[in-house]
Amino acid sequence: MTPFRDARIADACAVPLAAPDDFDGWREQARRLIMAEVPPDRVVWIVPGEGNGDLFAESPGHSRRLPVPRAAAPQPRVSRAFLSLAKAAALHSDPQRFALLYRLLWRLQGRPGLLEDKADADVRRLHDLSRAVRRDSHKMHAFVRFRAVEDEEGREHFVAWFEPSHHILRANASFFINRFTTMRWSILTPRGSLHWDGEVLLEGPSARREDARGGDPAEDLWRQYYASIFNPARLKVGAMVKEMPRRYWKNLPEAALIPDLIAGAQAREAAMVSAGGDPFAGMAKPEDLDALAKGIRDCRRCPIGCNGTRAVPGEGPGNASLMIVGEQPGDHEEMEGRPFVGPAGQLLDEHMGAAGIDRQRARLTNAVKHFKFEQRGKRRLHQNPTAKEIDICRWWLDAERAIVRPKLVLGLGASAGRSLLGKTTSIQSVRGRPIALADGSELWLTVHPSYLLRLDGEAREAERGRFAADLAAVAARRRELA
Ligand code: URA
Repeated sequence: MTPFRDARIADACAVPLAAPDDFDGWREQARRLIMAEVPPDRVVWIVPGEGNGDLFAESPGHSRRLPVPRAAAPQPRVSRAFLSLAKAAALHSDPQRFALLYRLLWRLQGRPGLLEDKADADVRRLHDLSRAVRRDSHKMHAFVRFRAVEDEEGREHFVAWFEPSHHILRANASFFINRFTTMRWSILTPRGSLHWDGEVLLEGPSARREDARGGDPAEDLWRQYYASIFNPARLKVGAMVKEMPRRYWKNLPEAALIPDLIAGAQAREAAMVSAGGDPFAGMAKPEDLDALAKGIRDCRRCPIGCNGTRAVPGEGPGNASLMIVGEQPGDHEEMEGRPFVGPAGQLLDEHMGAAGIDRQRARLTNAVKHFKFEQRGKRRLHQNPTAKEIDICRWWLDAERAIVRPKLVLGLGASAGRSLLGKTTSIQSVRGRPIALADGSELWLTVHPSYLLRLDGEAREAERGRFAADLAAVAARRRELA
């Protein structure tokens, strides 16, 4: 017997792996060991950088001799489920992970249903390790932040510093290559580094935080973006810290904002409570359209304002005699930053032209100034604003009316009706006749053009005719009031 100090090791089979994330190496060796019928308690896995190699340095020769599989031995049986869990768990930083995987593989040969036994300590540990690794990868995808630097040849290169908890770097390379294919980038970590030049991926040694130089304009963009999507109305510090654990904060440019944003949100919430819930309490009305547009852009008083989309202020002369009020910007409007430029806007343009209303001389705006939507794959599907959201945003529409002072207001659809009348009103019951508003102007309500877009056949013809008549009535009234 070899003179090992530790009796357990004296009889052990030391199996070297090429790297801490060498799952393929483990799989190949584990297959041979099973076929050679070497029980788990006789195997020690030697992983670079994990210290256990020293135990075997005492007896060169012994530790590297691997058993030979029996010629007639059957191939080990493994399920896809086990392989998938094992592949993730192999990246965990637990030094016992490869031993656990081999023990499970050994036990699975005699008990194929073992993975179903959720009470089994090995099975539970396998799930725990695999879950922790997947979570670490998810955090890496979310929190790697590239900083632009110049390389020696003056070309733009993006460098990120990240501290994974497990050996996930190599396993995630393809995610970053696919996402940032055309960029030249490096990801530096204490466990190694990756370098992509647009074509070839190179692996490098571990790095230090200082190696990733920082503080470029991309960081300002991240900060602005984060401040814009930060939703004070939904502030739950516990949930936020769970999603963005504090250990990542030091590497995230936007994290520097978090304490102030939390403090600001709490102060705003306290102010709202003491002001009886009015989110605009104490705020002066903007005096001109520029101040109005800026206020709208910065508004985060309802969840729509906090959804990170671009605000769409009204468009048209500041002294227009006719104001047309829609519901909210849609996908096209949000992208262009202008109201009524999508399909509903085109239909409205058509009808305005037919009624003799010049778009350039009218003020076009909306009851709600941000786009509310639901993301479905790549598409953003329109969602109606709630009554509460309309009521909050009314402050801006009132301010706009106070600046423009139109004689006539044409409201399109129920949301515009709610905003202008302060209550939900049936369009059909009031269309075709003027309603006096408190500021002396006259409101006409009709349906929204997107309603016409959803109809077809005879109903569409009939409703388009009624809409045309409503616009014609407004155009006639405008001439009377001129
Ligand atoms: N629908 C609206 O109500 N407003 C727009 O600006 C565009 C579509």
